[in-house]
Amino acid sequence: MIQNLLNGKKGIIFGALDEHSIAWQVALKAHEQGASFVLTNAPIALRKGDIFRLGEQTGSEVISADITQVDEIENLITESRNILGGNLDFILHSVGMSPNVRKGLHYTDLDYNYLNKTLDVSAISLHKVLQTAYKMDAINEWGSVVALSYIAAQRTYSTYSDMAQAKAMLESIVRSFGYHYGKKRKVRINSISQSPTITTAGTGVGGFKSFYAYAQCMSPLGNASSEDCANFCVMMFSDLTKKVTMQNLFHDGGYSTMGISETLIQSCFTCQGECFDDIAERERVMGKK
Ligand SMILES: NC(=O)c1ccc[n+]([C@@H]2O[C@H](COP(=O)([O-])OP(=O)(O)OC[C@H]3O[C@@H](n4cnc5c(N)ncnc54)[C@H](O)[C@@H]3O)[C@@H](O)[C@H]2O)c1
Repeated sequence: MIQNLLNGKKGIIFGALDEHSIAWQVALKAHEQGASFVLTNAPIALRKGDIFRLGEQTGSEVISADITQVDEIENLITESRNILGGNLDFILHSVGMSPNVRKGLHYTDLDYNYLNKTLDVSAISLHKVLQTAYKMDAINEWGSVVALSYIAAQRTYSTYSDMAQAKAMLESIVRSFGYHYGKKRKVRINSISQSPTITTAGTGVGGFKSFYAYAQCMSPLGNASSEDCANFCVMMFSDLTKKVTMQNLFHDGGYSTMGISETLIQSCFTCQGECFDDIAERERVMGKK
């Protein structure tokens, strides 16, 4: 196994809520590979308390920050520099939340205050983190920032609701800020478009079990787990990917390139033509009931 890929590197990891969180697994792998970092989450998540267990396990300090508040991000960066003894080499943005999804509002009946909140927490927050770090010159040359995305940024997933707009904006910020930070400091910015993963944020999306099973049946390599994602993040933080920037990188076992798979044809196709409006067409294709 590769050792010490992140030896001497310093970072901030946003978004470890519990051991199912993608950020939690990234923290464990980054620690294993020699990185030191600060863990951060919203005050409400800190009250849940699990993150302190991760802090003990990885020898990391935990600092509270609401990612939508620029003054809290400034404080986080200042404190992190003090704790880690210098500038940062990597940042993980693993944050997402939609009040519209949480409240079960249909996409055709969005609450626009909630929509603003969704965009602020799940997308604009990346800009806030990057702009704050840029102004404070807080990331070393060849540093790496990774944000987590989902394929609903490009394709329609009917129950993913306004998170689809948030992910599209997130990926756009990756490209736009990737240019400016690349020119100024050779800092790399990428998003990883991850398979459905069983976490608090993931399972909060309507029909998550079907998303998960469908993607599993479709992907030649199967869904990527949060541990797999953590390995990919570590590689993206390492010096092995120095010229990768402004990309949305699919990490999904091949799902995004598929049309239909044998598994889906043979085992998972349970509709039996119920989706046809035209009964004669249904009988022609599926046979008589
Ligand atoms: N789980 C999936 O199926 C899946 C798939 C693709 C992408 N993603 C993305 O991965 C990322 C991490 O999600 P996860 O699946 O690990 O779920 P998670 O629920 O464990 O993590 C989401 C995190 O966002 C944090 N957060 C919410 N509001 C915040 C705020 N105002 N300030 C700071 N932190 C805040 C939460 O406390 C939590 O730690 C998200 O961007 C999510 O959209 C998840």
